[in-house]
Amino acid sequence: MKLSFLALLALITLWTISIPQSSSLTPDGEALLELKSGFNDTKGLLRSWKHKDHNPCGWLGVTCHFPDLRVRSMALHRNSLHGPIPPEIKNCTELRAIYLRANYLQGSIPPEIGELDYLTILDLSSNLLRGTIPPSIGQLVNLRFLNLSTNFFSGEIPNVGVLSSFRNTSFVGNLELCGLPIQKLCRGSLGFPAVLPHSENVASQGAKLVTFHGDLPYSSEEIIKKLEQLDEEDIVGSGGFGTVYKMVMDDSSAFAVKRIDRNREGSDQIFETELEILGSIKHINLVNLRGYCKLPSAKLLIYDYLALGSLDHYLHEHGQDDQPLNWNARMKIALGSARGLAYLHHDCSPVIIHRDIKSSNILLDISLEPHVSDFGLAKLLVGDDANVTTVVAGTFGYLAPEYLNDGRATEKSDVYSFGVLLLELVTGKRPTDPCFVRRGLNVVGWLNTLNGGDRLEEVIDEKCGNVGISKLLKRFLI
Ligand SMILES: *[C@@H]1O[C@H](CO)[C@@H](O)[C@H](O)[C@H]1NC(C)=O
Ligand SMILES: *[C@@H]1O[C@H](CO)[C@@H](O)[C@H](O)[C@H]1NC(C)=O
Ligand SMILES: *[C@@H]1O[C@H](CO)[C@@H](O)[C@H](O)[C@H]1NC(C)=O
Ligand SMILES: *[C@@H]1O[C@H](CO)[C@@H](O)[C@H](O)[C@H]1NC(C)=O
Ligand SMILES: *[C@@H]1O[C@H](CO)[C@@H](O)[C@H](O)[C@H]1NC(C)=O
Repeated sequence: MKLSFLALLALITLWTISIPQSSSLTPDGEALLELKSGFNDTKGLLRSWKHKDHNPCGWLGVTCHFPDLRVRSMALHRNSLHGPIPPEIKNCTELRAIYLRANYLQGSIPPEIGELDYLTILDLSSNLLRGTIPPSIGQLVNLRFLNLSTNFFSGEIPNVGVLSSFRNTSFVGNLELCGLPIQKLCRGSLGFPAVLPHSENVASQGAKLVTFHGDLPYSSEEIIKKLEQLDEEDIVGSGGFGTVYKMVMDDSSAFAVKRIDRNREGSDQIFETELEILGSIKHINLVNLRGYCKLPSAKLLIYDYLALGSLDHYLHEHGQDDQPLNWNARMKIALGSARGLAYLHHDCSPVIIHRDIKSSNILLDISLEPHVSDFGLAKLLVGDDANVTTVVAGTFGYLAPEYLNDGRATEKSDVYSFGVLLLELVTGKRPTDPCFVRRGLNVVGWLNTLNGGDRLEEVIDEKCGNVGISKLLKRFLI
């Protein structure tokens, strides 16, 4: 009787003591338990990691700082741990050292690891990790030791922050890595492999592929594979806003990929919204924007590929040798371009001012149908209030005098540029042709002097074929 009363008392005492204990594991401990549930701990090595503890300081592999009981180091090398490294590791904000060498860890490095401000040692060598090395590791200013050797990492080693201070011994045996520290050039001129949104770490690294309204009937994998293969040989042009590549899909459809390196200050959100708008604009005489790929270092815009290239090229370079533009073709180009421009001015809401109408922005398809390109880009990339010289360097011949003066683009300045384009079609001369620039004139001034001297026939490009001056005057100049 006495004995059982004592036992009961002991039980009650134990019970009351254990209540407050069970509900107070430190946040570090909670985060480590999250880690544990990610690791497939087949051998039960982490069985000492228990939820009922106050703190994780007695757990296998865990070392704390006293008296604050914050976790300072985690040493779990050679523990046959499977599974991914969960991003919750970032919650142990006081971590100095992570030793996870020689396990079977899978997946990629969570970029959140870059938030561990005090981290000095990171050893993830000899696991099954893959994906790219997150640039966020470069932010770890205290990092002194890094070993990512013998995994399956790929892509370019980001040359940022502290990451650029580690040498080849930190990256041994990752066959698909490239970059400065291991003295291996990254394939192609684009450095694409490093940044394209491959499966796992898509959102986290700021990379993203968007296609508009099923306009690009291929899987993301196929598009990304093709983008990755783009190389210097695929460059088909370069303009004010970036380099243009030709991308050919397996079904031999071709697309133009415009790589834009310059970035307007401001959020990606705005950029994406604007692109959505541009992607929704469809007209037979406008170049179709089919999608884009956003990378930390650049944006890739995917457009229709137009086989005959730009009017500028066709009119002034070798394009004409085999099939010179006759009068009818020029008419067709003028009218089509006008329709495209009119659509931007009158049928889009809000109105789109092109700001850079010129022959190199008129692209021709195989049947010489013109397509206006680069609309919306000036505003998107430079902004409303930008200095005009930064927008259209090199295209002064097309600029309306008032646009040059006050830098404000309007529908009217577009129409002026379009007028210059018409003159270019008629005369076959660039607006900066030496024959009038030498005399201090632009194409408009040149025409005016000829008009005054009744010598207007001289302006017509001989390659036009037979076209009476009266017909021409009726069509264009009156
Ligand atoms: C990690 O910290 C965040 C707040 O910083 C918290 O919301 C989250 O629950 C924590 N996760 C774990 C597993 O403790
Ligand atoms: C855990 O690892 C074992 C041994 O490798 C494997 O058989 C099992 O499927 C894994 N479980 C999970 C949930 O990954
Ligand atoms: C690392 O680079 C040094 C030269 O900088 C070279 O001698 C050494 O062989 C390289 N080691 C490995 C593992 O590639
Ligand atoms: C990293 O680990 C690899 C493979 O175990 C080893 O060869 C290399 O020397 C280590 N690097 C450093 C910096 O300790
Ligand atoms: C525009 O740029 C030119 C040359 O870069 C500079 O001289 C001019 O002051 C700038 N104007 C404005 C309004 O910023």
